[in-house]
This record gives sequence, C-alpha cells and structure tokens, in this order.
Amino acid sequence: MSFNYFTENLLRWYPLHRRNLPWRETNSPYIIWLSEIILQQTRVAQGLPYFHAFIERFPTVVDLANAPQEEILRTWQGLGYYSRARNLHSCAQSIVNERNGEFPDNYKALLKLKGVGPYTAAAIASFAFKEQVAVLDGNVFRVLSRYFGLDLDISSNNGKKAFDKLANKLIPKESPDQYNQAIMEFGALQCVPKNPTCNQCPLSSKCYAFQNALVNVLPVNEKK
Ligand code: ADE
Repeated sequence: MSFNYFTENLLRWYPLHRRNLPWRETNSPYIIWLSEIILQQTRVAQGLPYFHAFIERFPTVVDLANAPQEEILRTWQGLGYYSRARNLHSCAQSIVNERNGEFPDNYKALLKLKGVGPYTAAAIASFAFKEQVAVLDGNVFRVLSRYFGLDLDISSNNGKKAFDKLANKLIPKESPDQYNQAIMEFGALQCVPKNPTCNQCPLSSKCYAFQNALVNVLPVNEKK
C-alpha cells in the first residue's frame, strides 16, 4: 500500500482547495472545542453563524462558564440536539473550576471532558496541540475505505477499529493538524458520497474503489 503517495498528495491538494474557516486560523483549544461541538451533526454553512455568535458573546471559556444557562440555550436556539449546549456549559464550568481555565493538552485527558468523544478529542489534540492522533468521522471513513479498498462495515466495532488503525498509521508526525484537516476537507469537497468527480481527483490513479468500479459501493455501512 502506498501510504506516502496518499498522504503526500492529500497534503498537496489541501492548500489549493481548503475553505477559509475561522476555526482553522487559531490554535486556541477553546475556539477549536467550541467549533467542533457546534459542527457535530451540523453542516458548516449552518454552524458558522452560531460559531460567530458564541465567540462574540462568550469570548473565553470563563465567559461561557459564568453565563446563565438560558443565555447559552438561547444562543444555541435552532441548532438542535440541546444536550450539546448543556454539556458545553458544564464542560466550561469544570475547566474553570477544576483546571483553572486551562484545557487538557492531550488526547487521553481531553476524552474525559463531558460531551467530548474520540472524534472531538482527536480534533482538539491535533489542531490545538499538534498531537499525532487521527480524526475519524464520516468523511474520513469514506476516503480511506475507497482509496485503500477497506470494505469492513463502518458501523461495526471491528470495522471502526480497523479504520482507526489505518488512520493512525497514515497521519504524519510533521503537521498532523494539516493532515487531519486535509482528509476531512477532501471528503467534504472531493471524495463526496454521491457522484464524486473522480476524473479530477489527484488520488484516482491509485484509488482502489476507482480502479475497481466500487466508488458507489464503499464505504460499507450496514446500519444505513
Ligand atoms: N466539520 C467538523 N469539524 C470540521 C472542521 N474542523 N472543519 C470543517 N468541517 C468540520
């Protein structure tokens, strides 16, 4: 398998195609955490105005922790999944009260925060602290399963484990943050679920799914 080809081409593709998104211009774990919680189950276009509203009203984790919950829920209104907003508040309070306002600076410790699962912990650890830990979300499953021809069920535990292992082999020591952003952006813009333009894809010559006419079959998701 050509790991280097994959990673190098992805990192070359990214600066040419990336969207300028505000949470990509910062190393602040607070801003990155806020953006990732907002973007769970939410599209970028829908999440953006909420992101700006939160940063304006609650510029620091202390502001968020000290705000009345009604104000947070009001700012969240329209985004759905309100447990995210309640977790946001309680997480901010524990960071202020128990950690002096400092975010944990590594994957393992981030995972212990309320509302922070493996995806969000990996995003914060890599984007804010440059830890070499791979993000796994729907975009990443799709890109990896197609390019490497990995046909394990992404809704099964075994499948998830195999993808996690592969993803963590691919992520480079240098710029793990850029790599994680790149693979997610590649899934969002190029390797899209339906009718991707593979004739314009820089990875298609070595893409298992493209070479074997399996682009519309991968990834396998038995729960869908
Ligand atoms: N969706 C979730 N996290 C994202 C990020 N960091 N950039 C773009 N889209 C995202």
